[in-house]
Amino acid sequence: MTVKEIVKRYGNKRENLLQILHDLQNQSPQKYLNKKDLEILSEEMKIPLSDIVGTASFYSMFSFTPRGKYLIRICESPPCHLLGAPAIFKVIESKLGIKEGETTPDGLFTLEGTSCLGICGVAPAMMINEEAYGNLTEEKISQILDQIREKESKR
Ligand code: FES
Repeated sequence: MTVKEIVKRYGNKRENLLQILHDLQNQSPQKYLNKKDLEILSEEMKIPLSDIVGTASFYSMFSFTPRGKYLIRICESPPCHLLGAPAIFKVIESKLGIKEGETTPDGLFTLEGTSCLGICGVAPAMMINEEAYGNLTEEKISQILDQIREKESKR
């Protein structure tokens, strides 16, 4: 979808900005908000570009730099933190060879922290793109990442 089409779908009122930014980022293969799209959005919504960037910067879910095909977001809120999120980070960092905020050289994975994902009952939890995973253990994480790698190697 073009930026224009997304704006048309929701309407160009300011209250729709977050949803539009969300859709824009989701449809980007590298899951980020690029400058050209934001410039078009600014024109379409009649909101200054600096204002749009300021709004998007406030939310950790938005990125202005390209990310991997699979965006891993580990919940860092207190329940997940207490039940092992720091260890989950370490496992993924060592398995993928990247630190928080980085992307693997093959462009496949980006690792980020996030606030509560709304599935605290299965803490520690994470999301990979739109899919949620809970009750994480080292073994479970290895399985999930191996499955993704296997799927990608067949493409
Ligand atoms: S605290 Fe982690 S999902 Fe809510």
